[in-house]
Amino acid sequence: MIPKERILQLRDELHLHNYRYYILDQPSISDFDFDQKLKELQDLEHQYPDFSDPNSPTLRVGGNPIDSFQSRNHKFPMLSLGNTYDLVELEDFHQRVEKGLLGESPTYVPELKIDGLAISVTYISGKLAYAVTRGDGLKGDDVTENVKTISSIPLILQGNDYPEEFEIRGEIFCSRENFQRINDLRIQDGEDVYANPRNFASGSLKLLDPKEVAKRKLECYFYYLSSDFDIGQNHYDSLEKAKSWGFNISPWTGKPAPFSRISEYIDHIKSIRNSIPFDIDGVVMKVNDFPQQKRLGFTAKVPRWAIAYKYPTEAAQTTLLGVTYQVGRTGAITPVAELQPVFLAGTTVKRASLYNADEIERLNLYLNDQVLVEKGGEIIPKITSVLSEQRDLFAIKVEYPTHCPECHIPLHRSEGNAVHYCPNEVGCRPQLVGKLEHFVGRKMMDIQALGKETVAQLFDAGLVRSCDDLYRITKSDLLPLDRMGDKLASNIMDGIEQSKQMPLERFVFALGIRHVGETVAKSLVKAFGNLDELILASKEDLLQRDEVGEAIAQSVVDYFSQEENRKRLDFFKSIGIQWEKQTNALAQSTVLDGKKVVVSGKFSQFTRDGIKESVELNGGKILSSVSSNVDILLAGSDMGPSKLKKAQDLGVQIMSEEEYVNLIDQK
Ligand code: IVH
Repeated sequence: MIPKERILQLRDELHLHNYRYYILDQPSISDFDFDQKLKELQDLEHQYPDFSDPNSPTLRVGGNPIDSFQSRNHKFPMLSLGNTYDLVELEDFHQRVEKGLLGESPTYVPELKIDGLAISVTYISGKLAYAVTRGDGLKGDDVTENVKTISSIPLILQGNDYPEEFEIRGEIFCSRENFQRINDLRIQDGEDVYANPRNFASGSLKLLDPKEVAKRKLECYFYYLSSDFDIGQNHYDSLEKAKSWGFNISPWTGKPAPFSRISEYIDHIKSIRNSIPFDIDGVVMKVNDFPQQKRLGFTAKVPRWAIAYKYPTEAAQTTLLGVTYQVGRTGAITPVAELQPVFLAGTTVKRASLYNADEIERLNLYLNDQVLVEKGGEIIPKITSVLSEQRDLFAIKVEYPTHCPECHIPLHRSEGNAVHYCPNEVGCRPQLVGKLEHFVGRKMMDIQALGKETVAQLFDAGLVRSCDDLYRITKSDLLPLDRMGDKLASNIMDGIEQSKQMPLERFVFALGIRHVGETVAKSLVKAFGNLDELILASKEDLLQRDEVGEAIAQSVVDYFSQEENRKRLDFFKSIGIQWEKQTNALAQSTVLDGKKVVVSGKFSQFTRDGIKESVELNGGKILSSVSSNVDILLAGSDMGPSKLKKAQDLGVQIMSEEEYVNLIDQK
């Protein structure tokens, strides 16, 4: 067979298998065989780029990264939905509909209100043409390449009775299970977890690298078709049709029913809500008949033929068993409520955040209190109220401890600070272990073989007390430890050895000096060039540098003036830790050379860290707050108005993301 024929054959087969797997749920080949065919197609496409196809099944794994998203107008505005938490208001809605239809009683299609992000996908001649986010409703970001990685969104349609051109809308989301899997990986890496599946899904779709999006295993259900062509007489049939063309339609969509039966649907979904594998925040009911929809029309913002009923936030009542106090790496104390396990919104809740002493005071907590907990879409629940009338007469008030729960040294709380600290930096176990964990972390010295448990094991075995000790251990120290094999021991030793080559800014960050985070470490290294200069810097020297305020300067001076730290640093120097700033081999341009830039708000084409890195790679310097010292304010969306005003008042140049991208593009 000539390659072109084989390529076309494989594409057809893979499209069909995809449809059988994701839509019909009737796979007819094994995952292994599917992957083999996909691999064969990938290789052939690579070999014969002339036969490439923008809708090839190989795009599921993600095409090449793009520089930015283009904005695209919606042919039909993407409206939102009216919503209510109240069944009486739902009835009012129905009455308005009847009135609008001059007394006719419509049937409604009840559906899930999926808690994800809306997407509009246009198909032309049976092929996915482009996919656009909601944006401001009139225009959004063209995220076609990312959307193509979502396996349940068809690239090529099945059948032959689809309109020549149409738009279909749906909700992109991440299942709870997949979300948990991804957060578990992040915990293993010592990274912050994503707050909830919705934020995760919408953040993912805005990534510039489709290969990364592909890894995140997003899903999509479609719920609305619009076209200038004929798409049938009613909503329900149009969804059925869409299903036959290969679209993923939620199996929880109800049959058309009169209003009197909608509350049945609402109750039913409520009772099975936790077994639905993704988050929903309510149900939607839509007038089924298209001519009726047309007669009802739209207000400026929402259709008059549909409404969302939202479930109230789920709360559960349980008993406060006690409060524990966790000590972090910096000595900061975090109080945590220990609860009688209670089932809430799909998971068993045993703990809730209490934030700080003020929060405990505000709630006026007593042991054994009955408390209400809520999960406002975030993972860690919080206590929203206390049923104090049920409190038992001899209840003991929760008192914030005066001494560290771990090392029993008196706690300290500085003026105006909500957080208590344990000052015992050199003798408090969680602080010492936390500092070691920080030192070996991914963004610091990146010693991957040393996971959390191993670090604690080394500490408890008395092998390592502070980060310099890591460079004193030998393989024979490690081998006698529990669960330690020859391979792991070698990996640890290699990881430690390699870490000596880490750039100086990572080492400075790894030291865990209070107030010296990633950005400050970078700017200190940039300003002083090598570690000896930084060690000798006076407070005045430090204060003259950008980024460095009173608290940072004091903390740096304190750190380097301690005898113990000085000795440690002498040791680090003697074993060959990077002591000099490296010249940046990655620099992209010099368009921002010497310019001081503040980054604020959200960006569509960069993550927070990504845009900062980009500024630096183009010669700029990142500062954290607007002052007369600043040259450019890079303003993203959702930026605080006061920052903007301050920049305007000070005459700082304000640059949009688009202008910035243009600027660095012309380098
Ligand atoms: S219909 C004109 N149906 O909820 C059609 N929206 O609060 C308007 N949503 O922007 C949308 N599930 O992102 C519709 N079954 C469903 C939905 C749904 C979730 C989202 C959608 C919309 C938002 C409105």
